[in-house]
Amino acid sequence: MPVITNIADLKDLHRRRTPKMFYDYAESGSYTEQTFRENTTDFEKLRLRQKVAVDMSGRTTESEMIGRKVAMPVALAPVGLTGMQRADGEIKAARAAEKFGVPFTLSTMSICSIEDVAAHTTKPFWFQLYVMRDWEFVEAILERARKAGCDALVLTLDLQILGQRHKDLKNGLSAPPKMTLPTMINLATKWQWGLEMLATKRRFFGNIVGHAKGVGDASSLFSWTAEQFDPKLDWDKIARIRDMWGGKLILKGVLDEEDARICADFGADALIVSNHGGRQLDGALSSIRMLPRIVRAVGKDIEVHMDSGIRSGQDVLKALALGAKGTYIGRAFIYGLGAMGEEGVTKALEVIQKELDISMALCGERDVKELRHENLLVPADFEGDWV
Ligand SMILES: Cc1cc2nc3c(=O)[nH]c(=O)nc-3n(C[C@H](O)[C@H](O)[C@H](O)COP(=O)(O)O)c2cc1C
Repeated sequence: MPVITNIADLKDLHRRRTPKMFYDYAESGSYTEQTFRENTTDFEKLRLRQKVAVDMSGRTTESEMIGRKVAMPVALAPVGLTGMQRADGEIKAARAAEKFGVPFTLSTMSICSIEDVAAHTTKPFWFQLYVMRDWEFVEAILERARKAGCDALVLTLDLQILGQRHKDLKNGLSAPPKMTLPTMINLATKWQWGLEMLATKRRFFGNIVGHAKGVGDASSLFSWTAEQFDPKLDWDKIARIRDMWGGKLILKGVLDEEDARICADFGADALIVSNHGGRQLDGALSSIRMLPRIVRAVGKDIEVHMDSGIRSGQDVLKALALGAKGTYIGRAFIYGLGAMGEEGVTKALEVIQKELDISMALCGERDVKELRHENLLVPADFEGDWV
């Protein structure tokens, strides 16, 4: 059993144990990957303010996200094709999250279906929706999520059209993988992945196959999704979805103060400052840079969450100190899953919680809910003078 001390260790194991096509799918941003890179390097520009001779006993990382108690304010972000990183990946990640006490968000584009995840977990999870043109499909999937007990809807707003990720095109990404010669050669070195995949029936998009009209096999599915994302999504349609759902609503993919204001006036429970992990608009600013101005603009009126670029507990601390009430990890838990399955997701959460707890203590803080701007040293030009 390798000694895992940080998220980078899990990433290294993920790369070695998972087919290249799926590792690359996770580890890529769109076009030049500038935004993908800056999501992490901008966190490094923020420094922590050390405080000494402060009582550090009785610390807690517990908090709340949209009224739900969490062991730490770090949810698992929706990640499509999680069940291709490791067999039954969504079920494994959801189980790790519920045991740890943090929310799990199931992607529309998951391999395990909503019903399947519900059958293998005991607590409600969150469901992420991509809005499709087929309104009947949207209505039906919301009904399925409600029946499965999902207690929040995460509506993704930044993917009406797919940002191009070069590696996916070059690798011929598909689920399950097509057996080309390079893929077969690569798979020969990933025997554990292959054995587990052979032992499961969950190899297609479980929320879609058998539910959407005209989708029979994987190849028609890829073209179906490309054609089906609704390019006409606007605030009227979002209002219709809000009313159809009727429960807690989180709007994901906001990177602009004006959009954030609309989300707040809209009556959503939270918004997520996010650039989709650098996978959509290459050239957009990092989420952590945009966070302070969005918190200033709407933080009093709506819960502000953030994701994109979090790879450590120190990153979580920085986001909370800049005013986020909750954060999400995407790749950090996927590395854990690809490395060691459910155990690896738990490990990723443990690593982050320990880093958060120790860094918080060394900043002289005992309660994660008390973190604030003064815990940071922020360079004068951090937010930049963009016009
Ligand atoms: C491989 C991969 C697949 C993703 N699939 C989805 C998805 O299906 N729905 C969605 O709303 N966001 C999706 N995202 C974006 C994540 O929810 C999240 O915003 C992002 O991963 C955060 O950045 P991080 O990976 O740096 O933590 C995906 C991200 C990755 C890396």
